Order: sequence, then C-alpha cells, then structure tokens
Amino acid sequence: MRRWSRTLLALGLLCALMAGSPPRSSDASSRSPTLTLDLGRSGAHISPTLFGLMFEEINHSGDGGIYAELIANRAMLDNPPAFDPWALQITGQATASLDLDAQDPVNARALPESLRLTISHVTPGDPVDIENPGYLGLPVRPSTTYRASFYARSGAGFAGPLTVSLQSSSGHVFASVSVPKIGSAWRHYALTLTTKANIKPSEDNSFVISATHTGKVWFSLVSLFPPTWLDRPNGMRVDLMRDLLALHPTFLRIPGGNYLEGQTAATRFIWKNTLGDLAARPGHQDDAWGYRSTDGLGLLEYLQWCEDLHVVPILAVYAGYSLGGDYIAAGPALRPYVQDALDEIQYATGSVRTPWGARRAAAGHPAPFTIPYVEIGNEDFFDQSGSYDSRFTQFHDAIRAAYPSIKLIATSTDATSRTPDLLDLHFYETPEWFSGHTGYFDSYSRGAPKVMVGEYAARTAGSPIGRGDATLGNAIGEAAWITGLERNADVVTMASYAPLFQNVNASQWSPDLISYDALNSYGSPSYYVQQLFSLNHGDLVVPTTPNANGPLAYVASRDSHGTATFLTVVNSGSSTEVRRIVIKGAVSVAGSGTVTVLTSGSPDDVNSLDDPNNVHPVTRRIESIGLSFSYTFRPNSVTVFRLSVKPERR
Ligand code: AHR
Repeated sequence: MRRWSRTLLALGLLCALMAGSPPRSSDASSRSPTLTLDLGRSGAHISPTLFGLMFEEINHSGDGGIYAELIANRAMLDNPPAFDPWALQITGQATASLDLDAQDPVNARALPESLRLTISHVTPGDPVDIENPGYLGLPVRPSTTYRASFYARSGAGFAGPLTVSLQSSSGHVFASVSVPKIGSAWRHYALTLTTKANIKPSEDNSFVISATHTGKVWFSLVSLFPPTWLDRPNGMRVDLMRDLLALHPTFLRIPGGNYLEGQTAATRFIWKNTLGDLAARPGHQDDAWGYRSTDGLGLLEYLQWCEDLHVVPILAVYAGYSLGGDYIAAGPALRPYVQDALDEIQYATGSVRTPWGARRAAAGHPAPFTIPYVEIGNEDFFDQSGSYDSRFTQFHDAIRAAYPSIKLIATSTDATSRTPDLLDLHFYETPEWFSGHTGYFDSYSRGAPKVMVGEYAARTAGSPIGRGDATLGNAIGEAAWITGLERNADVVTMASYAPLFQNVNASQWSPDLISYDALNSYGSPSYYVQQLFSLNHGDLVVPTTPNANGPLAYVASRDSHGTATFLTVVNSGSSTEVRRIVIKGAVSVAGSGTVTVLTSGSPDDVNSLDDPNNVHPVTRRIESIGLSFSYTFRPNSVTVFRLSVKPERR
C-alpha cells in the first residue's frame, strides 16, 4: 500500500518475530488434542472462483475512489443551485462572481449546467481564480503528468488567456500551463500538467483556473486524471488496483448492492446512460447512498476493469424491485426491464454484428466479454410483496432462452418456480456469530441451489448493521467462518466481502476492506484474511477431524496435481491453544514449508492511514517438519501452513 507490497508481506517476509511456536516432531505436548488431516480421503472440490470481490458505489468507492477522476462535481450537477466544491478566489482589487448557467449548454441532456465566471474588474498580477479541491483532497506527486480537460467558451470581450495549474493550499504552484485563447463557441481543451521531481506527495491542493481579463467565460465537464492503471483514459487509480490485484481475486460482482436498485426504478443504475463520451453521460442521483454518480465508471469501464483484474464478471441486472419498496409486477410492465437486461448482456457478450455488440465495438472494445453469471436483482428478500418469484421467472426464462450457458443467480429463496443456478446469501453479523457458525453450511441441503455468499462482513458486537470498526477481532470471526465456506466448497462456490472500499473522508458504511484518502490506502485486518484464504488453498478439501476443536476452526486442502497442501487454523479464543497435527494418508512431508500468522496484541487492533501496517501477516519458513508435529496457536490468530506433502499412492 504505501511503499510496500501486500503480496510480499503475505508471502515472502522471513521475519524474526515468531507468530507461533515452531513445530516439534516429538515433545512433551504429545498429550495435547490432535488435529488430523486425512489425505487418504477426498473432500469437496474447491471452485476456482471461490474468492472474489463485490463492488458498488458507496463510501465514494468509485467517484472519489477507484475511478481516478480527481475533480469533484466536474459536471456542475452535484449540488444545484450551489456548485460546491468549486470556489471563487479573488485577490487584490478584483471583482468577480461565479454561478451556474443553464443557457446554451454543451449537451442539454448530460451537461445542462455550466459554470459561469464573470469578471468585472481585475488588476494585472492579481488573477481571479476558480478552484476545485478534489474529492476531499487532490493528490499531487513528484514527476507526474496529469491530464486536464474542459469545455469552455467566452463572452464578448473575453478572449483569454487562462492559466491552468495545480496549487497547494498555501498557493505553491506545482505545475501550470497557459491556454492562450478561448473562443466564443464551446470547444474541448485538453492539456497536460507535469510536476517537478523535487516535491513531496501531498493532498491539500487544488486544481485552479486563473483569468486576468474582464468578461465572461463558461466551463463545463472539467476533468483531471493522474496516471491510471495501464494508462487507460478514463481509468482506474493505480494504488487501489494494486491493492485489489494483491488479493488475487477471481470474480467481481458489479455494479453491486443497493446502488443497482436505487430507491425507485428511476434512480437505479441505468446502464444505457453510462456509455460513450463522458459529455453524453448524464450521471444520476444515487439515492441509495445519497450522492450523485458521474457514471464515468460505466458498464464498459466495469467490464474492462474485470479484464484488467483478470477476473470473471458477475453481472447484476436490475430486476424490477427498488429499495423504497416499489416493484414492477411480472408481465407486460416488466418486459422493458427484461429487455434491458438482454440488451445489457448483448452489449457485453454480443458479436460486432449485433446492435449492442456494435455499440461496444464502437466504444473501442470489439472483442466480446465473457459473462458466465448474471445475478437477477439484489436482496430481493426485502420485497415483502412476494413478487420476486414471478419476476425471477420472467428474467430467468428470457435470459435462459437467449443465453443458455449463462448461470443465473437468485437473491432470495422466494425464487421457487424456477431453480436458480446459484443463490446469493448475505451475512452482516458479529464476530462471535461468525465464529459460532462455522458449520453453517455443513447441513445445507446438497439438493438445493449452490451458494454465492455475495456479501459478508463482521461488525463489532452491539453496533448497528453497517457500523463497527474493522478490527482484528472482526477479521478473526470472518476467518473462522470462511473455514466453513471452504470446507463446504461443494455448496459454496463464490464468496466476497462487502463493502470493498471506503474513502475515509466520506464513509457511509463500515467496516470496509480497503480504506483510503486522496493519497494513500490501507487494508483492514479483514483484507489480509481475504488474501490469506485466496492465496492458500488447493483444489480439493482434505478431510479433518475432529469437527469441533475448542476455539479453533480449521480447513485443509491440497493441490490434486501436485504436493502443495494447506492447513488454515483460526484461533478465535483469548488463550493459546496447543495441538498435535497429524497428517494421514501421506508418505512424507518435504523438509520445509511456510507458516503465515495474522495476529496482533489485541482483538481491537486496527490498521489506519497513520499506521497502515499495524496488523499484517508474517510468513516464516519452518524446517524439519514431519507427518506429526505440535504447534501452539496464538490467541486471536489466523495461521496458514503451506506444506509439500507426498500422498500415499491409491
Ligand atoms: O454492502 C452494503 C449494503 O449491504 C449493500 O448495498 C446491500 O446489498 C446490503 O444490504
């Protein structure tokens, strides 16, 4: 995150700090309880897409988050009739005003307002500035090139020049460029700003446009991008992409949760409004989370994002139910929404000869994306009308007929007339609940639809849903529970923590997996739990006994094509626990392996921007391991053994 790599921390640090006692092949603790791995028996197949991500626009996760745009309220539509955070700065004797103007817009539908700067008096050397401080901070880094752009036109008497710059709050200019002339017709101006090598990264800065002549000038769609992931225009924030890639995710559920639905159908995620030139995207008021979305992160960007993360998309489509409780009854009224979903799938997967595939190609991506899963709705169990079954049926039948290979995910057990391929279940519970329910899926009917746990997170006991610190204790609860998901991998084929992101200066829901301000980011202890599980499993569960073992929860797995064998043990208790670990059905264990431990002094410990590395996993090599050894598990810890075990021939 700051200057270190999480992958390195998880995999490679050979640290002197002992997170648990070294294994001993024969010792006085032979009377300690035994934990047996039986490689002679086969457990469930583990889905290659077990560990993935869920994304929605919440906590400024997209705008002001992974979507790298730095200008807040770039379309001047966020706070009408106000235009904040844009502000006018006047120095010296100048007189000027700033307001919104609906006359003669760049695009009447998408950019109906522009920002009008009127300068009545200005003295040389004292320019009039308009400033934008970014999304609660504007990151400026050394030796970095920023791409700025805007639409502008001038009124009678104003021809320019304009100076565009990046400035600190104390007025230090990091980079500046002049636009000599502004014409009277709207024109798109694009320029670059490059900072010098000798500055320190900072975020208390602004994007500034300065004028030194009287007259009027209008601005619309003012944009500023830092370098983006893979240099994609309209792309993603680099550090957050690194954070995601270090998790080695396998799927991305888009565009998530409540954001998909809106409070009403009118404020849902309308994917057709998220395509094409930014100047033609109206954005929308996301009343699920209470702020306007630019929709700069639109359907194509979501799909491209999946490609860049090397994950499969779980495409969530609006299914006619919104948070406010309104639903569209199955039948003719629902037909346009079903057609919308079919069009959306065609946009993503259709050849360039299909109408929507051609639109995708025109936007620069002729190759079709693969959509293996479509999720129909979000949390439709909240729909008390009982309409989900018929709505799901209508979507199911239409999508199945057109796209027979796509697996369909239901969001409520109310879908009974058609059998979903998967059921999306959500769990926001206390850490104690999670560690007390590791057997949740042991008794799940093997005849029922398989499960995607599309959202889960532990929150501190007593805190309301959607609140609670991202503590080690929460992460331990989740880890204990994940052992049960992996052990039941024949039923649970996908799981993702939620929410994924929060801008710490605009948080609406906590805990979250990855937090950031304009400049830096860090992972919560839960982030490392996700990473430990994602990086350390095979494709076959190895049966373990006994089922229950005091405060310990565990799961073992192995690589059926090699010798890699994994054992993850979670101690959610407050005492150390000693266990004799016995590996049956194996010929030998290679001399060395690794053990990685995630723990800290207190279950209340957290990571933060000031101390991003407070709780993190430590990996060390273990030598001379045998088919039986003892190990002491520290309180509130997750321990992952990665061993090379030669199974007996069968
Ligand atoms: O993850 C936050 C919210 O929790 C999601 O928007 C919703 O699906 C769930 O209730």
